Amino acid sequence: MKKRLLSGIQPTGKMHLGNFFGAVHNWVTLQQEYDAYYFVADLHALTSAYEDGVNIHESTLEVVADLIASGVDPNKATLFVQSDIPEHSELHLIFSMITPLPWLERVPTYKSKKEEIQGKDLNTYGFLGYPVLQAADIMLYRSDIVPVGKDQSYHIELTREIVRRFNALFKTDYFKEPTERFTSFPQLPGTDGRKMSKSYGNALYMSESDIEIDQKLRTMFTDPARLRRQDKGNPDICPVFALQGIFNPDLLQELSDGCKSAGIGCVDCKKKLIPVVQSFIGPIRDKREVLLQNKSAIEDVLQTGAEKARRVAKETLDAVKSIIKIK
Ligand code: TRP
Repeated sequence: MKKRLLSGIQPTGKMHLGNFFGAVHNWVTLQQEYDAYYFVADLHALTSAYEDGVNIHESTLEVVADLIASGVDPNKATLFVQSDIPEHSELHLIFSMITPLPWLERVPTYKSKKEEIQGKDLNTYGFLGYPVLQAADIMLYRSDIVPVGKDQSYHIELTREIVRRFNALFKTDYFKEPTERFTSFPQLPGTDGRKMSKSYGNALYMSESDIEIDQKLRTMFTDPARLRRQDKGNPDICPVFALQGIFNPDLLQELSDGCKSAGIGCVDCKKKLIPVVQSFIGPIRDKREVLLQNKSAIEDVLQTGAEKARRVAKETLDAVKSIIKIK
């Protein structure tokens, strides 16, 4: 039997290169080898977007188009939407009964996101419980492996703690502790050199046209000390060089030597990057556009995924209810 693997993505907007290399690239590779479950975490999005009046369903369809266009294959993996499976909410509630508050208050993403997102009231029960919902997502499918970005490691650790507590309290070994699986790619810098993120406005999206890619990369930050063409650069601190590592691994030595000796300028370096990024994003962009022209076909894919996911989810929840003796 194949091992079970699960991961989720929030529908907080279009997918960008940081999302792709941070997680989705791994999803595509791992769907071959594992019994993979991939879902859009629309309820998680609600924990911070509840005041925004955004259409989460629309964003969900867009993310699904992004995922399929990027290589997630609904015939190999089970692709579904979290809120289509009510058992996520039920298991979340049950886990919330046994999760001590201090475990949640010390979650690093809880503290940092609260500080990062200004002007939103994140002082809610739901937002504090974000990682409990994530633990429910993972254990509902009794997942062995969870491919995520490094920023999620504490959430997986917390999932293991909840599993241990559940098993101890109810004298069972029903749940097995899951393991995280990180991507091999380092965190991607955005056009301003900070971590690529929608909220920083520095991201390159899968929906970007060739012209937009060209403009964004042409003006992307480089080594700040390299002001003139004749200045020698330091590729180790240059965000463009970090992208070269992903898109032009074979040219890395040559570009590094050229930069350090001022043999090439930043414009020359970027000229080697731009067409490669364009030909990487191009086919994904075109495919996502075609998919989005037929939203009912996307809904059909999601319904098939939900039916399959629900069978597993129901099995787990039936077992859990009997273990905790409410059934
Ligand atoms: N918290 C994850 C993120 O922001 C998304 C997510 C929700 C998730 N539930 C999950 C990831 C379960 C892995 C497993 O990226």
